Amino acid sequence: MTKTPAIVPAPREINVPSAAPFVLTAATAIRHDAAAAPAAAWLSRWLGLKAGAAGPGPAISISVDPALAGEVGGEGYRLSAGAGGVAIRAAAPAGAFYGVQTLRQLLPPDIEQSGLRAQNGRMEVPAVEISDAPRFGWRGAMLDVSRHFASVAEVKRFIDLMALHKLNVFHWHLVDDQGWRIEIKKYPRLTEIGAWRAETPRRDEEGRGDGVPHGGFYTQEEIRAVVAYAAERFITVVPEIELPGHSSAALAAYPHLGNTDVPEYQPMVRCHWGIIMETYAPKPETFQFLDDVFTEVLQLFPGTFVHIGGDEAMKDQWEKSAHAQAFMKANGLKDAHELQSHFVRRTEKFLADRGRRLIGWDEIQEGGLAPGAAMMAWRDVKWAVQAARMGHDVVMAPHTHTYFNFTESNTGGDEDRWGMETSLEKAYSYEPIPEDLEPAHHARVLGGQGQLWREDIPGWARLEYMTFPRLTALSEVLWSPAKRKDFADFRERLRRILARFDRMGVGYRRSALPTKEKAG
Ligand code: ACM
Repeated sequence: MTKTPAIVPAPREINVPSAAPFVLTAATAIRHDAAAAPAAAWLSRWLGLKAGAAGPGPAISISVDPALAGEVGGEGYRLSAGAGGVAIRAAAPAGAFYGVQTLRQLLPPDIEQSGLRAQNGRMEVPAVEISDAPRFGWRGAMLDVSRHFASVAEVKRFIDLMALHKLNVFHWHLVDDQGWRIEIKKYPRLTEIGAWRAETPRRDEEGRGDGVPHGGFYTQEEIRAVVAYAAERFITVVPEIELPGHSSAALAAYPHLGNTDVPEYQPMVRCHWGIIMETYAPKPETFQFLDDVFTEVLQLFPGTFVHIGGDEAMKDQWEKSAHAQAFMKANGLKDAHELQSHFVRRTEKFLADRGRRLIGWDEIQEGGLAPGAAMMAWRDVKWAVQAARMGHDVVMAPHTHTYFNFTESNTGGDEDRWGMETSLEKAYSYEPIPEDLEPAHHARVLGGQGQLWREDIPGWARLEYMTFPRLTALSEVLWSPAKRKDFADFRERLRRILARFDRMGVGYRRSALPTKEKAG
């Protein structure tokens, strides 16, 4: 009996002819055309085989033909494997790369650890015909490196794991109250001061710090390296620079940019979690600072979207600040929400003037959404519905299904301080198109992403434990056709990708594993 190979995310169409497999050996050639060079380069590095090698015999061929766009779009591909060879054809370079990632999953998991030496250097790719294309264009994961820093090596590993899942947007949460993590040449104190905090809340004892300084930041050179590394894997990096709230670390470095006329104004890099009162003050020097920061950010990140945060900006300081009140009056802003909107709108214009687009958390809608802005819905799906109806693009990141810092359980989740749970099954059940959104607006939903907020995720092992396999489930939500979704089938295919994780040393949550109720 022919068995359907276990691919995650599930391809749009997969057919298994009863035919002889392709046999991959160290003598296999990788042939490709110029546009498929990035995909071929990844594959040849991974297999340790030379790309472009000539010579007769069965080969892996990778090609790009724009005429295929009608069938598979820019990110889709066709893969055909049999005794005569493996052919991956795509309409664009990204599709060729995803075809290669599918080929990867057709090879035995051992290859992740031992390369071509596994299985005595002779491995089979089952005969298969695949036609595949993603459901959504924004398939992301957000990593918070402010609450706990991640090394460049860890960030690259995260990107590698995203690539295996055909995810294509890495949302890098670089700035928050507990640490500023991106070097800005014009404002060196952002990282001299803003990247370091005195201590971190203890997880075992509420209200106490651990007494251990924590920090770190990425130099611009490191950021460029990460962006290039991601690009080789067809992943766009979306940097997040929070404003007007979540700005304590920046204000600790440059206190004059805050609401200095508010009693007890004393910004510092925060050593506790939760929502902090600090916001930027509406002053010419603050706006200049933000423009300068975004100028450097745009030089580092070539992608279209720039995330400006916008969530949980407390209005208390603006209410108390005579300066902020006078600014609002002079600019015809009727309340603090409109002042928040003023920050967002001028940043939106700054970015639009430079050919970029702003995206922010759903609070940016309060007080009016800037015309070209896109919105990331995290609190409630209703914000996405509203924004999409008004013609704004939206990305779905609801805490109910995509916050993987919440406990992975089905038990009602009081295991962590969030008091929230998102089981593997719940993550898999997520449907990104809101139920009450009219079909005419569905195209406004660009896709979705998984969130890894790191207050309670200090180390990398824990990060992988919280991320996987829930991000694996979400990758299928975002890639595979809705009609192919089947949790029981997913769990069976999951076994195979988890075996791959084992060889790669990914510390996923084992108790999320399917039990053996379908043994055999
Ligand atoms: C958020 O969770 N504050 C976006």
